[in-house]
Amino acid sequence: MKKINLKINGSEYSLEIDENMRLIDLIRDVVGLTGTKEGCGEGECGACTVIMGGVTVNSCMVLAFQANGKEILTIEGVKGKGNDKLHPIQKAFLEEGAVQCGFCIPGMVLSAKALLDENNTPSREEIREGISGNLCRCTGYNKIVDAIEKAAYYLVKEAEDNEI
Ligand code: FES
Ligand code: FES
Repeated sequence: MKKINLKINGSEYSLEIDENMRLIDLIRDVVGLTGTKEGCGEGECGACTVIMGGVTVNSCMVLAFQANGKEILTIEGVKGKGNDKLHPIQKAFLEEGAVQCGFCIPGMVLSAKALLDENNTPSREEIREGISGNLCRCTGYNKIVDAIEKAAYYLVKEAEDNEI
């Protein structure tokens, strides 16, 4: 067993875990945040994407103890603690009809967030590159790219409004 301390969506956790436990199992089974999905379990589909220390990781491929001392963001935390409104990325996904079965969407939203945190005016090519690790079997990707483009617009506008 290993003792780890980490922050998930702004809340601190101090946990004793099996050293072979995967991060996805800690998130879903120990902490109970089931928005993070398991698809392939082999690092291929991106359904399990979370942001760890500012970068996206496939949580099925990370051991939970590797998150010791780190900050994790899951889909449940994207809109921000205590915020009732959806994050602009979530809003844009809904508005653009970019969600079908929804299984890939938590991971897509987190990859989109990591991309837009780095580059707030990405080209469609850069958006496609940013979500290239996330597979979607339903949408054909165009609406997802549309949604991320719209989210970028919302985020830039929000930043400009906050400056006024
Ligand atoms: S479930 Fe982790 S990459 Fe597919
Ligand atoms: S919406 Fe079904 S896998 Fe993407």
